Amino acid sequence: MRAGGRGRAAREAPDAESGPGQAELVRLARRARTRAHAPFSRFKVGAALRTRTGEIVTGCNIENATYGLTLCAERVAVFKAVSEGLKGFDAVAVVARSKRPPAPCGPCRQILWEFCGDILVHMHDLRGHTETRRLSELLPLPFDRRNL
Ligand code: THU
Repeated sequence: MRAGGRGRAAREAPDAESGPGQAELVRLARRARTRAHAPFSRFKVGAALRTRTGEIVTGCNIENATYGLTLCAERVAVFKAVSEGLKGFDAVAVVARSKRPPAPCGPCRQILWEFCGDILVHMHDLRGHTETRRLSELLPLPFDRRNL
């Protein structure tokens, strides 16, 4: 789905660090979270991934009865974006109802690193707290194509 489609919004280029773009990214991640399919864990997660040109693609976690085939919100957003030919990402927001900022799981850090590089990660806990880190802080010694 291209700009204007479900879960996808066209926007003007956002400011570099957090800036106005962050609030919009969190808002869209919150909205995506409401679409989570999490009947087993009941832990709903939303993500919103932004390109440097301001396009935003969202994702939510999608569980299934085998548990192991569960897809995290961040990876859904990345794969949706990649499958639509988007490149050049600068930030992702991750939203969950949790006591601490919802840091992406290990596999999602790996996928985010490989497809998005050292982006900003805004972790929002639904109580209004957002913690922002560079992905390189969350994944300090990454394995990627340079290791191969
Ligand atoms: N989950 C995510 O969507 N993202 C993460 O980074 C961590 C975990 C989901 C997977 C599962 O549906 C639920 O949260 C509980 O682990």
